[in-house]
Amino acid sequence: MTIDGKALAQSIKEDLRERVESLRLRYGRVPCLAVVIVGDNPASHLYVRSKIDAASFVGIDGMEIELPKDVSEEELLRTVSKLDSDPAIDGILVQLPLPRQIDPDKVLDVISPTKDVDGFHPRNVAYLHLGRPCTFPCTPKGIIRLIDSTGTRIDGKRAVVVGRSNIVGEPVAKLLQDRNATVTVAHSHTPDLAAITREADILVVATGHASLIDGSMIKPGAVVIDVGITRDGAKLRGDVDFESASKVASFITPVPGGVGPMTVAMLMENTIECFEQRMASLLSAPSEL
Ligand code: GUN
Repeated sequence: MTIDGKALAQSIKEDLRERVESLRLRYGRVPCLAVVIVGDNPASHLYVRSKIDAASFVGIDGMEIELPKDVSEEELLRTVSKLDSDPAIDGILVQLPLPRQIDPDKVLDVISPTKDVDGFHPRNVAYLHLGRPCTFPCTPKGIIRLIDSTGTRIDGKRAVVVGRSNIVGEPVAKLLQDRNATVTVAHSHTPDLAAITREADILVVATGHASLIDGSMIKPGAVVIDVGITRDGAKLRGDVDFESASKVASFITPVPGGVGPMTVAMLMENTIECFEQRMASLLSAPSEL
């Protein structure tokens, strides 16, 4: 069965819209999300548009800040720091990738962990791995929700994550372990990848290599989550060959319409959670208002 990520994301956003409305009544304002985009990468612009549109749907104030592709690192850091010290802004996201003259680590470092809606700040990453309360990164959080939506019990299952990125592979492996799966992380240097993926009850693929995984590499009845998006002419292709994989898997996400919309829905949820936590701490320490 195909997992309809678009429909699940839509129902989550409808619930979030009600939550934002009750926050507006309670605090007299709604969460504000600042999205910074540098340069003219068409895919990045498309992602940012969908984030701003989702914010508008759930009632979050979305603010888009566009900077030219030749902006200096200093100028970008100044812009982000200004957003960070603005009390009217609850969440900051800097769309990646950034142009070569900019060190993304320096940019992530100037966002307060409490405004880091992507969950990319080193404190949030460390806290995730230490099991302390923190903002979870959006795509891994969305992947767990997608698996849960199938009714699959994660506890005790063999999970294989293909890809070890900071944004998806590593954090989703940790979240699956936190749910008591036995997790293997495979990557580009893994010999006989198929032997590993065939052991997976839950298979998450996040490599950016189109159609890396086909049906022959999947255990019958597995839940397959495809995080890849590669443009192929007018078509988008995932890391999993849907045609052959869907004949073997019990549940599989499509590309597009699987993980992507859930990432955006989780970004909305993270923005709301950052807002709620900031409001709660401002109320308990009003001198900082
Ligand atoms: N580029 C690709 N995925 C992401 C994401 O989740 N957040 C940001 N900020 N940039 C990205």
